[in-house]
Amino acid sequence: MTFPPLEQLEHYTTVRRGVTREHMLTNRTALDSIKAGQSVPIGTHVVLVDYQSDVLERYLVAQKTGDGIDDWQYQWFRPDGSIKADENVERCYSCHQRSRQDRQFMFTYSDAVEFE
Ligand code: HEC
Repeated sequence: MTFPPLEQLEHYTTVRRGVTREHMLTNRTALDSIKAGQSVPIGTHVVLVDYQSDVLERYLVAQKTGDGIDDWQYQWFRPDGSIKADENVERCYSCHQRSRQDRQFMFTYSDAVEFE
C-alpha cells in the first residue's frame, strides 16, 4: 500500500455527519471504469479524507492490488502521510465487504457513478 497521489485525484463526493466532513477521492480512470461497470485498474486508490471540525484528522485509503475482485487493501494514514501501524485493518475489510463485491466494496459507489 502506497500513499495516494492526492493531487491527481478527483473529489467525487462529500459525506457530512455532525462535525465530521469526509471528502471522497479517486482518479479519473477509476471513475470512468465505475461508470462503465468495470473493475477499477490495479493500483487505484480510493481515499476518504477525514476532517473533524474542519481540521484534517486522517486519510482512510482503499487500494486495488490485483486482478481478483477481492484484491483490495486498506490502510489508515496520519495527516503527515505516515501509516498508523497499530490500526486493525481487518476491520476495514470486514465492514467494506458487506458492501457489494460488484460495487468495488465502496459505500459511495453510486456517488462515483453519478459524478461527472
Ligand atoms: C463499521 C464499518 C466501516 C469500517 C470498520 C470502515 N469503514 Fe470505510 N466506510 C464505511 C462507510 C459507511 C463509508 C461511506 C462514508 C460514510 O458513510 O461515512 C466508508 C467509506 C470509506 C471510503 C470511501 C470509499 C467508499 O467506500 O465509499 C474509504 C476509502 C474507506 N471507507 C476506507 C476505510 C479504511 C481504510 C478503514 C479501516 C481503517 C475503514 N474504511 C473502516 C464503513 C466502514
